Amino acid sequence: MSTAYRTRIAGTGSYLPPGLITNQDIEKMVDTNDQWIVERTGIKHRHKADLGVVTTDLAFQATQKALADAGMTANQLDLIIFATITGDQPTPSSACVLQHKLGISSIPAFDISAACSGFVYSISIADQFIRSGMYKNILVVGAEIITRFVNYKDRDTCILFGDGAGAFIVSRTEANDPNVIFSSHLGAEGSLGDLFVLPAGGSKIPFRQEALDAGEHWFRMKGREIFKNAVRTMSAVCAQALEHNKVTSAEIDWLVPHQANNRILEAVADHFHFPKDKVISIVHEMGNTSAATVPVAFDTAVRDGRIKRGQMVLLTAFGAGLTSGSCLLRY
Ligand code: ACO
Repeated sequence: MSTAYRTRIAGTGSYLPPGLITNQDIEKMVDTNDQWIVERTGIKHRHKADLGVVTTDLAFQATQKALADAGMTANQLDLIIFATITGDQPTPSSACVLQHKLGISSIPAFDISAACSGFVYSISIADQFIRSGMYKNILVVGAEIITRFVNYKDRDTCILFGDGAGAFIVSRTEANDPNVIFSSHLGAEGSLGDLFVLPAGGSKIPFRQEALDAGEHWFRMKGREIFKNAVRTMSAVCAQALEHNKVTSAEIDWLVPHQANNRILEAVADHFHFPKDKVISIVHEMGNTSAATVPVAFDTAVRDGRIKRGQMVLLTAFGAGLTSGSCLLRY
């Protein structure tokens, strides 16, 4: 698409709730140990929101930081896009709840359900709205309270997930601004949907006592298959980004991948002969926060001085669906 407008990242913010679940805590719940978890995933602890705190509360905190970073107030926003699979409730959308919490009204607001790829999907959607000239300033949030849907008797899943929120303010800029989003590439393979599911709560298995008794309100995962497909799909969408923009991996300053498992991140980096010290990884201190991992990792690296204005950054994610996405930008 070639228009007079392009999209820049005006500000970022993130928020992780203070409660922690350490590997030692998990050792007390299931048959596992710290060494196994660290070797297989890299994760040392994850954050957990207290009961009573809801997903839009985390998103609100991240948004306030992103607005401050952009030097903006909420009433300058034109649209809210909220990526989540663990929103406050099925309806109304978390985006609408967040709009109200921000003390603003009337601007459009909607949720995106693409699991861990949700934030990259949402950035791509925001970019299209800005390039088309429809909106100037868009809040894109990825937030999850995923620990509420995790069975702490299932060692396959409970070692992985944590809660958190990240937010970007993306804004219209002129076409000749060098610091813009260049492209995004999205994918989905519905045939692999059964690799990661939350069976109950929809029209297929409504919430009933039998569903609760069968544990169908917990996430279920085929970890080994997800692992292989995560490496394959993220490598594919990153290759698309490089090819489309005619850049080599040597020209990328930072890779910000979905923070699922350190070994997955390393495998994707190896695929592109990308040095590991240019891969932003905070998986050890956060675990997998689904749609929140990419914006939280990005914001963390901006605030600790690793990602600087003018640098080339490649975002990539995969998630249930199976979904995948990449986004190449100059920050
Ligand atoms: N502690 C100790 N042993 C364990 C544990 C555990 N927590 N979990 C599994 N094991 C055992 C298995 O039973 C198996 O034993 P066996 O060899 O006797 O059969 C052995 O460890 C190896 O199991 P694998 O499943 O092959 O282990 P793997 O190296 O694949 O690691 C893991 C498992 C960490 C889950 C990995 O596959 C992974 O990270 N996959 C990706 C998961 C992911 O990213 N999910 C996100 C979903 S996407 C979304 O949108 C939310």
